[in-house]
Amino acid sequence: MQNFSYFNPTRLIFGKDSEVRLPEEILKYSKRVLLHYGGGSIKRTGLYDKIMKLLSEANIEVIELGGVKPNPVLSMVEEGIRICKEQNVKFILAVGGGSVIDSAKAIAAGALVEHNVWDFYQGKVVTDALPVGVVLTIPAAGSEASPWSVLTKEDGMLKRSFGSGYIFPKFAIMNPVNTFSLPDYQTSCGLSDMLAHMFERYFTNEKNVVFTDYLLMGAIKSVIELGPKLLKDTQDYDLRAEIMLAGTYAHNGSLGVGRIEDWSSHAIEHELSGYNDVAHGAGLSIVFLAWMRYVNKDNIKKFTQLFTQIFSIDPSMSDEEIVLMGINKLEEWYKEIGLPTRLSEIDVPEKVIDSLAKKCVHDRPNPVIGGFKELYESDIINILKVAL
Ligand code: NZQ
Ligand code: ZN
Repeated sequence: MQNFSYFNPTRLIFGKDSEVRLPEEILKYSKRVLLHYGGGSIKRTGLYDKIMKLLSEANIEVIELGGVKPNPVLSMVEEGIRICKEQNVKFILAVGGGSVIDSAKAIAAGALVEHNVWDFYQGKVVTDALPVGVVLTIPAAGSEASPWSVLTKEDGMLKRSFGSGYIFPKFAIMNPVNTFSLPDYQTSCGLSDMLAHMFERYFTNEKNVVFTDYLLMGAIKSVIELGPKLLKDTQDYDLRAEIMLAGTYAHNGSLGVGRIEDWSSHAIEHELSGYNDVAHGAGLSIVFLAWMRYVNKDNIKKFTQLFTQIFSIDPSMSDEEIVLMGINKLEEWYKEIGLPTRLSEIDVPEKVIDSLAKKCVHDRPNPVIGGFKELYESDIINILKVAL
């Protein structure tokens, strides 16, 4: 096991009516907030009115910036930074999913510097940020308790991330009832993303990580089991609650301690969602299947261990048979929850594969991705061809 230092300061406030804790949590930091939200779902569901009432009763002044797009963009962040600087805003409340939260984190870091916030996505180190709070409306990205922000720069459609301990949200209000309104497709994209966050951590060549391997396999198995049940009964509080918790734990760092994680499928997927705005979880279902088909021979036992556990495949079969059956079962699972499994389903044609692969590595310090298996531009091309 590798040495590690683990820290996650985000307070999770979970359950029915947990929004009532908002004023108390915000007032620890400021009486004035930038309320950041997406394209309008919170207005349709009544969550916006509920939050505005709670904040107004507590005399908290609200400055609004709505309209964050899925796969959030730099121009919106720059607008938020301008507002924070001009109006002396000291706290950002993100109400939504990963896109809103990531945009809020970027504003929080950018509001305290004079250079362009994009520099952080190119490697500049963050040394401070405004505090961010979250009301989560979709279990998916895990950004509510992660130190990451993912953003797209419209010029060049470059989707990149940065991580910093300064941008962990101070708290995340997680009321499963706020996810009842999710369209099935978004619920499924969320399931795929949280599963991917577990896969990225599970796939390591690190020895002697049995404890976290079992945590991860249990977590993966629970999402595989509960996901389709939830889609059959989307108003079931307990199922919504289980999945909401799974999404946060998938990405709060605890499951990845002591091991080198992979993250190449995420890097490849970010090129897909940077290219045509496909939902991150829908890109991941395609990439992960292709990645598994391409890399499994490099450490096949890691695959057989996983598939025999999560799909109860007979361990007496050959390793190759287990892997083939496991990947096919995973593909069936993605299809069952209505997600794409091939690039042709999301309008990514073969002719753009070379340029996506080039973009994926071109601005990295080393032209390589992947902690489980190192992948070069030629490997990324091959994986995307497997996904056709
Ligand atoms: O914009 P609104 O109208 O709110 O609609 C959103 C959006 O269209 C809708 N939605 C959210 N909650 C809803 C709802 N609709 C009805 N009822 C609700 N309760 O869902 C759509 C998707 O929202 P979005 O925030 O984009 O989803 P998600 O949480 O999947 O975030 C995706 C972004 O997070 C990044 C992704 O790359 C992508 O840009 N990621 C961030 C990570 C991080 N910061 O740690 C890690 C992830 O791997 C990921 O890369
Ligand atoms: Zn993800």
